[in-house]
Amino acid sequence: EGFLPFQHEPYFDYSNLEIAERQRAAFARIREQGPQNYPLIIGGERVFLEDSFEVRNPADPREVVGRFPKARGEHLEAAIRAAEEAYATWQHSDPLQRAAILMRAGQIFRARRMELNAYMSLENGKNWVEADGEVAESVDHCEFFAREAVRWAAGKSVSPLSYEHVTMTYEPIGVVAVISPWNFPSAIPIGMAFGAIAAGNTVVLKPASESPISAYLFCEIMEQAGLPKGVLNLLTGEDSEMGDPLVDHPRVRMVAFTGSREIGCRIYERAAKVQPGQIWLKRVMAEMGGKDATVVCADADLEAAAQGIVAAAFGYSGQKCSACSRAIIEDSVYDQVLDRVVELSRKLVVGLPEDNADVGPVIHADSARRILEYIEEGKRTAKLVLGGERAEVRAADGTVLEGGFIQPTIFSEVDRSSKLFREEIFGPVLAVTRARDWKHALELANDSEYGLTGAFYSKDPEKIAYARRHFHVGNLYVNRKCTGAMSGTHSFGGYNMSGTGAKVGGPDYLFYFLQAKTTAQKY
Ligand code: NAD
Ligand code: ALA
Repeated sequence: EGFLPFQHEPYFDYSNLEIAERQRAAFARIREQGPQNYPLIIGGERVFLEDSFEVRNPADPREVVGRFPKARGEHLEAAIRAAEEAYATWQHSDPLQRAAILMRAGQIFRARRMELNAYMSLENGKNWVEADGEVAESVDHCEFFAREAVRWAAGKSVSPLSYEHVTMTYEPIGVVAVISPWNFPSAIPIGMAFGAIAAGNTVVLKPASESPISAYLFCEIMEQAGLPKGVLNLLTGEDSEMGDPLVDHPRVRMVAFTGSREIGCRIYERAAKVQPGQIWLKRVMAEMGGKDATVVCADADLEAAAQGIVAAAFGYSGQKCSACSRAIIEDSVYDQVLDRVVELSRKLVVGLPEDNADVGPVIHADSARRILEYIEEGKRTAKLVLGGERAEVRAADGTVLEGGFIQPTIFSEVDRSSKLFREEIFGPVLAVTRARDWKHALELANDSEYGLTGAFYSKDPEKIAYARRHFHVGNLYVNRKCTGAMSGTHSFGGYNMSGTGAKVGGPDYLFYFLQAKTTAQKY
């Protein structure tokens, strides 16, 4: 189709002083502008409401970063109606037109990248590197889904008959509700929305209330790229108004959700009920949590393993579904690897994301409280070897910030029955567990209701071959860290309670948003 081969968007090199200065300037411009009042977007119209909520900087909750409307039932109805109306034409749009819009969006993302990074950092506490990695992933989504729109439009070949012409083609399904979490406020809503839009569906997007600015900017960019009105609608507001009612709505054909196990299971159950007037069984994609493990075998490159564990455990304060929250280490090298992990983690600077500190705040006070409860529990059931307290971070004026800064925390000798080992903590807390041997380590890693990512460190081809078969996760990384999947390469999604098996950024993903039509025509 004349596309250049897909290439990943390179990350910014912030050791280049000029690039670092441009990033600082982007923060300054946003500050100068002050917090904006953002609208809902329904059928291309911007809807501002008096009734609104504030988005606050997790590092310094005194700072309001933006205000968003609290939508009500009438806005939900209007957004679904707008998406339905747009679907009447968008479903028949030329896949090349869809691809062109997605690629144009990619160009706009590139041009606005510094600004997008800064907004993300201010709304959800990512440092420059983490924010930039995510915006680069969003650019990759643009390029990847553009090509997928065209590839799926070609249909699939079937066994031919001499007396009939038979085709197998794929058609879109309708209005897709996209419900996204706060921790990847750009790449996750974009991944799900592009799955829908590239396939010819239309979307009602409901981002998490903690970090909706990136989702708003995404909608604005899609408009600039030429996406017709109504194909992508944005609703913000309270879960009681925008959660169950959106999932239950009879005109919603599919719910694409990423978030917690609790809400994912709730959506799965509710969406199963056929509502009056509903003429289909809803599809549900529910991508949920993780309790991801790194296994270290005695023969591994132990330095690489220690570095991989630290980066995956404490990057973005451990607030990734893919984060390494368990390190499971073979007995004979346990002490050596643990010592190195502690040594490396001790060097991490806890501070302001805006200053590109290694470890920033957790998303809000509730989350900090919950994480500290896990830490107290850990102090009773395991051995604390690093951290275990709040960290003190000061603003430029010297005041101690109220953001949820928590020291990188490591527990050793964590038992498989403990909460530290079993529950998703979603904070900078690493549980380290001793295994008798490498097979025992793998058995421990698999002892989880989740199965999202996993890392396996060994130089032995036989052990690696065994792990490839037996490590029960959707994303297995051998001799590298378990975070940092790239769209177009590392199709992302987990097993068991980590989700429904959809692999975003991979070659099967669009199928979730399509239905197959067989057409047989007699010669
Ligand atoms: P969450 O489940 O609390 O919220 C996710 C979204 O669901 C938000 O937009 C929220 O407003 C909405 N919501 C809340 N109640 C709802 C309801 N009754 N019906 C419909 N929608 C409702 O999750 P979170 O705290 O935003 O995100 C963190 C979680 O997401 C973690 O568990 C993490 O592991 C998971 N996550 C998973 C992946 C993955 O790809 N598997 C990726 C990122 C995050
Ligand atoms: N896609 C994100 C990662 O791989 C969650 O870290």
